[in-house]
Amino acid sequence: MKCTVGRGRTLALVLVVAFAASCGSDGEPAGGRAELSQFDPRVNALLERMTLEEKVGQMTQAEIDKLASLEEIPELALGSLLNGGDADPKDGNSVEAWARMYDDAQRAALRSRLGIPLLYGVDAVHGHSNVVGAVIFPHNIGLGCTRNPALVEEIAHITAKEMRATGMHWTFAPVLAVARDERWGRTYESFSENPDVVAELATAAVRGFQRGGLAHPEAVLATAKHFLADGGTQFGTSTPPLMLIDQGDARIDEGELRAIHLLPYRRALQAGVGSMMASYSSWNGAKVHGHRYLLTELLKNELGFEGFVVSDYLAIDQLDPDYKEAVRRAITAGIDMGMVAHRYREFIQVLLELVREGAVPMERIEDAVRRILRVKFAMGLMDRDARLWSNPALQALVGSPEHRAVARRAVRESLVLLKNQNRLLPLRKDLGRLHLAGVHADNLGYQCGGWTITWRGGSGRITEGTTILEAVRAAVSPTTTVTYSFDGSGADGADVVVAVIGERPYAEYTGDRADLSVESRQVEMIRTLARSGVPLVVVLVTGRPLILGDVFELADALLVAWLPGTEGQGVADVLFGDAAPVGKLSFSWPRSMEQVPVNVGDPVYDPLFPFGFGLTYDRETGG
Ligand code: BGC
Ligand code: BGC
Repeated sequence: MKCTVGRGRTLALVLVVAFAASCGSDGEPAGGRAELSQFDPRVNALLERMTLEEKVGQMTQAEIDKLASLEEIPELALGSLLNGGDADPKDGNSVEAWARMYDDAQRAALRSRLGIPLLYGVDAVHGHSNVVGAVIFPHNIGLGCTRNPALVEEIAHITAKEMRATGMHWTFAPVLAVARDERWGRTYESFSENPDVVAELATAAVRGFQRGGLAHPEAVLATAKHFLADGGTQFGTSTPPLMLIDQGDARIDEGELRAIHLLPYRRALQAGVGSMMASYSSWNGAKVHGHRYLLTELLKNELGFEGFVVSDYLAIDQLDPDYKEAVRRAITAGIDMGMVAHRYREFIQVLLELVREGAVPMERIEDAVRRILRVKFAMGLMDRDARLWSNPALQALVGSPEHRAVARRAVRESLVLLKNQNRLLPLRKDLGRLHLAGVHADNLGYQCGGWTITWRGGSGRITEGTTILEAVRAAVSPTTTVTYSFDGSGADGADVVVAVIGERPYAEYTGDRADLSVESRQVEMIRTLARSGVPLVVVLVTGRPLILGDVFELADALLVAWLPGTEGQGVADVLFGDAAPVGKLSFSWPRSMEQVPVNVGDPVYDPLFPFGFGLTYDRETGG
C-alpha cells in the first residue's frame, strides 16, 4: 500500500499534515501497524481480575499431544497450544480431525474460571502444511526467485483461509531469516540472501496472513521468526555432531546485524506483524533467548513492537542446565510466552516461584500477559463469536482447484533456468518418446521437502498432489510415449531425457551439511545418461544451490525447481513452454565448497551464477 493523497482541490493543509503524520518513516501507512495498545483499557480491566496463576498460564504454550487430558487447559488456565511439526490430531490427519481437535481444545479453554480463549499456533509455512489434503506451495527459497510480492501475499491469504477452515489462527510464519550460508539446513525457509528481497516478500506474507486486519474472520496472526540473525550463524559454531550451523553463533558486529538481519523485522513491524519468535541462535556468544538488549531494548523499546515474543520450541531449556534459572533469564530478557511443549507444568511452577521470590518482577509478568491479551482482543477471540471456531464453510476450499491453481502459478514463476544449450527447452509436446529418470521425478514427498505433513517431510504419496512425472504425462500429446526409470536405465532411443535429481527432505539441523555436492549416485546416473547421446534436461529438486560438478557440463539444459510443493504441473508448464521461465536466483550459486559462503556484496564475488541470474525463452518462437 502506498500513501497517496486524494485529488480533492480544496485539501486543507491541516489534512495534509495529519495524513503525513499517519505515514510511517518508510512512507508506509501507520494503519498497517497493529496499534495493539489501543486494546489496553480492556486488557487492563481483565488483568485486574486475574490471579498470578492465571497470568502465568497465559504465558504458557503447551503442545497438544503432550497434554494428559484437555482438562489440563482449564485447570492450568493455559493461554496457548501448538501442534509442532510432528503433532497430528489423535484421530487421524484430515481437515475434519484438525478442526475437531482445535474446537475441543478451545471449548476446554472456555471452561476455565475466566474463560479466556487459547491462541492456537501451527507451522503453516508453505500452505497449511501439516494437514493432509492442504495445498502445498513452494518453499520460500523458490518464492524468493519469483520476486513477486503480490503472489506471495495471495499465497499467505490462501494459507490463512485453509487454516481457518480448521480453526487455527496463528501461523509460525513467515521466516525472516536472511540465510547467508547454504550449508544451513533452513536455507530453503529463507526467501533470499539479500535483506531487501526478504523484507519485500516477508512483508507481503504478513499482509496476506493478516489481510483485513487481525480481527478479520479469515485472517491469521503471523509470526516474524526467528529474531534475530538466525541466518547469520557461522559454520562450526553449533553443537556437532547433531548440528553444524543451525542454532549457532552469529559473529557479526551490530552494524551488520542491523543492516542485514534487522531490516526485514523493521518492515514486518510496519506491516503490522503481531507476534515474533526468538531464535535458538546466539549473537556473539550470547543466546538470543536470554538477550535483554535484543528482545527488550531493541525490539520492544526502540522499534516499538507492541505484540508478544514467543520462545522457540524448548529453546528456553538451552539457557541454563537449571530450568528455573533458564526460565528466569528468558522471561527477564523479554520472552512473553514459553513454547514449552511437554514442560508446561514445570514452567508454570518455576515461574510462579520466581515471581513469589521476587526474582521476576510482577511488572514483567503483567507486560507479557498484556502483550498476549492485546492480540487476543485484537483478533476478536475475546468476543467469542464465530471467529473462535473452525469454519466449516471454508473446509471445501482446502486443497481446492482454485488454491492449487495459484500454487501451480507460483511453481512456474519460481523455476530458474540456468542453462539451455541449443535451445533444448521448451520441449515439444509431440515428441515420439520422452524418458524421465531419477527418484525425484515421481516422489511427491521429495518435491515438498521438510515441514510437510511431518517435521522432516517424507517420501512418496504423503498427501494429495501431482508429481513431475504425472504432470509430464498429462501434458504431452496422445501420441507421445513417456517412459520412466528411477535409476536412469532405459533412456536409449528416447528423443529427450529429463533427469530429476536433488536433495531428500530435511528440516532444521537435520539438513546441515558440510558438503553440498550433488550425490555421487546421481552424478553417475547423469554421466550414463549423457553417454547415451540423447538430449538431456536436468531438473533440480533442492532446498538450496548444490555444487553441480560435472552435472553442469553434461546437462544440455538445467532447470532449478527448488521445493515446488504439490503442484508438479508448474514444472511441466515451463518444460513444454506453456509458460516461460521468469525466476531469478535469490541466492548466489557457488562453484565449489571452497566458495561457500558466497553472498552478493562479498569483496571477491565470482560464483557460478550470480544473485539475480535466470535465463528465459520466448514463448512465441520457442527459442
Ligand atoms: C522451529 C520453529 C518452529 C517450532 C514449532 C522449532 O523447532 O525452530 O521454526 O516454529 O519448532 O514447530
Ligand atoms: C517437533 C518440531 C520441532 C522440533 C524441534 C520436533 O519433534 O515436531 O515442531 O520444531 O522437534 O527440534
